[in-house]
Amino acid sequence: MAEMRFDGMVALITGSASGIGRNHAMELARRGASVMINDIAKGDDGLPAAETFARMLVAQGYSACASTASVAEEAGARGLVQKTVERFGRIDLLVNNAGSTTEVTTNELATDDLRQMIETHLFGSFWCLQEALVHMRRQDFGRVVNTSSALGCFGASNSAAYTIAKAALLGLTRAAMLDNRDKDIRVNSLAPVAVTPLSASYFAKVLPHIDQARLDAANVTPAVLYLLSRECPLNGETIAVGGGRIARIFTATAAGYRPGELETEQIPDHLKEIMSTEGFEILKSSMEQYRFL
Ligand SMILES: NC(=O)c1ccc[n+]([C@@H]2O[C@H](COP(=O)([O-])OP(=O)(O)OC[C@H]3O[C@@H](n4cnc5c(N)ncnc54)[C@H](O)[C@@H]3O)[C@@H](O)[C@H]2O)c1
Repeated sequence: MAEMRFDGMVALITGSASGIGRNHAMELARRGASVMINDIAKGDDGLPAAETFARMLVAQGYSACASTASVAEEAGARGLVQKTVERFGRIDLLVNNAGSTTEVTTNELATDDLRQMIETHLFGSFWCLQEALVHMRRQDFGRVVNTSSALGCFGASNSAAYTIAKAALLGLTRAAMLDNRDKDIRVNSLAPVAVTPLSASYFAKVLPHIDQARLDAANVTPAVLYLLSRECPLNGETIAVGGGRIARIFTATAAGYRPGELETEQIPDHLKEIMSTEGFEILKSSMEQYRFL
């Protein structure tokens, strides 16, 4: 197959001075996209890492520009999309990638810490997405990837704020997908696995024996490029990728137990049917659940 190209397209990748996002930005630039690099981090030299990275891309002959806005602030996130459009004339591709993590149990999680995590992951993605959709709807084209996590899909202990915030991104993806199906717009979620500054200590602890080379961010970016491509038919999906594996993560339901009139006392005897996944179905929207009644 010919190389998947993004010539003439404009991409905003949040949190892209480091880790997975940096790799997405590098690869999109190499394949012809103009890229807006965004990050709040400073490099070892004390300079804004986003600006240093964007300068490096431009020096290599690519089209790039930088913003140090924080996506955790509404004006910053919305301004980031506006700056992308002002600089490059449009926005076609949005990768909501900026993020950080904390280790804390549900029992000990402070409200302010949860709020901060929600502001970066959920609100940051929501504000960028909502602002980008104005342009994507007008031009009848847009591709969005919201970076969730297996933790948001399946949960994890001692990662309460992160798990909650990442789970919320699945809802954002489904809602935005259903509200924009009338246009050539795709909104999907990603559950990546890669050794990065964010995850290195976590993987050293939970997967001490795995070959860390397999967990390179380069093993994540191909899934993102596919989800951003013009030909991508997937919409509202969650794709797990990393370590040389790519797979669908899905929410499904099954027929269950249907007595017509339900009594509490029936439940223990029918738990097997209630919990059975046999013949499960993945619904296109919540409206389809009423078929089972
Ligand atoms: N590495 C993994 O295995 C893994 C697994 C699941 C999900 N993720 C998610 O992937 C994304 C990228 O993570 P990574 O592993 O590359 O980590 P990373 O720390 O290398 O990169 C994240 C970047 O986001 C930036 N950032 C944080 N808050 C920001 C804000 N408010 N505004 C702008 N930039 C901000 C950080 O400065 C950092 O450079 C994150 O959303 C993370 O939660 C990573």
